[in-house]
Formats: sequence, structure tokens, C-alpha cells
Amino acid sequence: MKEEGRKIVCLTAYDTPTARLVDEAGIDLILVGDSLGNNVLGYPNTLPVTMDDMVRHCQAVMRGVARALVVADLPFLSYQTSVEDAVRNAGRLIKEGGVHAVKLEGGTAMADTVRRLVQVGIPVMGHLGWTPQSLNLYGRAVVRGRRHDTAQVILDDARALQEAGAFAVVLEVIPERLANLITDTIQIPTIGIGAGPNCDGQILIVHDLLGLDPNASYRHAKRYADVGRIMRDAFATYADEVREGLFPTHEHSYAMDEEELEGLDQA
Ligand code: KIV
Repeated sequence: MKEEGRKIVCLTAYDTPTARLVDEAGIDLILVGDSLGNNVLGYPNTLPVTMDDMVRHCQAVMRGVARALVVADLPFLSYQTSVEDAVRNAGRLIKEGGVHAVKLEGGTAMADTVRRLVQVGIPVMGHLGWTPQSLNLYGRAVVRGRRHDTAQVILDDARALQEAGAFAVVLEVIPERLANLITDTIQIPTIGIGAGPNCDGQILIVHDLLGLDPNASYRHAKRYADVGRIMRDAFATYADEVREGLFPTHEHSYAMDEEELEGLDQA
């Protein structure tokens, strides 16, 4: 798709019904992100997400997908500890979770891990720029690579991932100009989130796109619908109708023949 200049459209999903809708909408790549932690499981960030969480949600997503490529995040400390741990845990996402590929954060430091995963048959997507698993090292999401030295590190990391065999790299919250340079420099596709319009593809978090969290607002995350408000209104209307005796009506109830009731022991 990069060679043909066709944009690669990516979106996260964490459950079967959402994955089915995303797949039916023709999205090219679905990411079962470890953003599962903050978007679904109620954690403040991605760090507490476990391998068991990821496997369970990969399985759910795969039940809804017929055609998209599905990539799953290796959660924090499932691959940084050793290459063997990375192979074992990436293998679980493929074997038990049923996904097609994995994503991990980091560049040059992860090159040996990426190389080994690819050697054993596991396609890998990289993730550079703002990397949420390094939250405690770098602090909250801020633009990475604005200065010459940090931009050079990100460019070198992108090259290292390509050389190690990664099939694509996510660029998160980096300056548009740096993303353009990386996109022009490497042959594998760049997938941007907060990295400007010229990456080979784009990814958004499905909850941000749908407006499911009214408090979440990022410069790079466009809200295409206000589903959060629609849901809250529906819940409130349901509550009003139950309290006022307007729901359920006979229309929502099941019939029974009168004679079947007769003679029932009510003692
Ligand atoms: O976990 C996630 O959803 C991600 C995307 C932000 C790319 O890594």
C-alpha cells in the first residue's frame, strides 16, 4: 500500500461487537492496543495491563473480524525482560489470542528482540515517539523529537526497526516534519497518531473517535461522533421510563394462557 500511495487506515478495538463494526467499515488494520488499560479496564494508564488481559481481548476481537489485519500490543514487561520472554509472550498472542502480528515499543534497544520474533515467524510492528509504557521515565504525553538530538534518535530507531525486520512503525506525537522525514527515509510504512497527515497510514483510538470519554481531548484525536452523550442520554431515558412505569409495556412482555395459571398453588 505504501508503494501504491494508498493510505493504511488503522483503528483500535478491544471487544467483539466493536471489532465487527470496525472490520465491516473496511478498516485495514485493527490494533488490540494495551490502551485497553485506560480505555476499557479503568486503569490510569497502560502499565497494569497483563498478558492474560491481552489474550482475552485478542480472542474477543478475533471473533468479530473477518478481513482486517489484527495486531496486538505486547504489554509492559512482557518483552523488555528478555528475548525469550518476548518470544514466549508474542507467541501467546498469536497462538492463544489468534492475532496476526504484535506491536512493541522502542527502537534500537529492541532490535535484537524484533529480529528474533521475525526469525520465529512473528510479524512485528514498532512504536516510536511518545511511548506510553515509558510514562514513568518521560512523563505524560508531550511531543517527542522536537530537538535535533531527540529527532535523530527517533530517526535512527526507525531505521533500526526496519533493519531488524519490523513490517511497520507507529509514530506517536512527534512533529509533522520529523514524521515526513522518517516516512521518506524508510521503506516500511509509518502509521501516525499525532504525527501529521503525511504518514503512510493513520491510527486512532476507537474511544477517542467515538467520544466515549467526554473528558478525553487531544489535539490529534478527532471526534467523529458523540457516542458517549448518546449512550448517557439513552441510559437516563431508560431510568426515567422504568421509574415512571412507561417501560416495560405489554409489548415487551410474554403471554401465557389463562388456564395455565388456574390452580397454581400460591400458598
Ligand atoms: O495502545 C494503543 O492503543 C496504541 C496506539 C496509540 C497506537 O499503542
